[in-house]
Amino acid sequence: MGKLDGRVALITGAARGQGRAHAVALAGEGADIIATDLCADIPVCDYPLATLEDLAETGRLVEKLGRRAVTHQVDVRDAPAMRTAVDSGVATLGRLDIVVANAAIAPIGADPRHDPDELWAATLDTNLTGVWNTLAPAIPHLVAGARGGAIVLISSTAGLKGIVNGSVGATAYTASKHGVVGIMRALALELAPHSIRVNTVHPTGVNTPMIRN
Ligand SMILES: NC(=O)c1ccc[n+]([C@@H]2O[C@H](COP(=O)([O-])OP(=O)(O)OC[C@H]3O[C@@H](n4cnc5c(N)ncnc54)[C@H](O)[C@@H]3O)[C@@H](O)[C@H]2O)c1
Repeated sequence: MGKLDGRVALITGAARGQGRAHAVALAGEGADIIATDLCADIPVCDYPLATLEDLAETGRLVEKLGRRAVTHQVDVRDAPAMRTAVDSGVATLGRLDIVVANAAIAPIGADPRHDPDELWAATLDTNLTGVWNTLAPAIPHLVAGARGGAIVLISSTAGLKGIVNGSVGATAYTASKHGVVGIMRALALELAPHSIRVNTVHPTGVNTPMIRN
């Protein structure tokens, strides 16, 4: 008997790293998983992002635990595609209880020859607007379930203090992760009457491909 038997969790950036770990941990407690990821690279992000094979492996790990997994290759920057993925995942698994908005890029050591405007846009579009694009289609399902729920937004220590290395990437990452705190603060108030908790998590250095590159 797990703490999350019968529940369904949506996780973005779930193909590898912390997103995969969240998928496996929640499935281990009994939740079925909607796992999404871009599974492609972003040009101004100089380290490789996850692959389709990574996402399939997350699905296999969830299924090994006896839980159902729905996987979608989708970009959190693409609002209509996120809506389609969330709606179809919920239709397949029957409900939604938990959202972990985890997908992000950290182009902190990006090549200084990249166009700074592109670097800024890609980081904010993924790390901040991508969180909103995840929540906008998910919240109506949480509210409609009328069972409460939990939204967990993965910020960073860079969402609590400035990080600096002289690059636009570091400023953009810091701004995006502070912005996630703003989403949490507003939605925690808005969704409290529905017994839906909204929290941010602020990891320090974690041994994933994001920093191991
Ligand atoms: N690793 C660290 O030291 C660290 C520290 C603080 C915060 N974080 C945060 O933790 C979270 C997880 O990062 P991680 O360490 O597992 O890194 P990671 O790079 O292994 O995982 C990030 C995942 O997000 C996916 N992704 C990137 N852009 C996407 C997009 N546009 N649409 C959909 N998916 C996309 C990637 O393919 C990848 O699978 C991120 O929000 C990150 O900012 C990480």
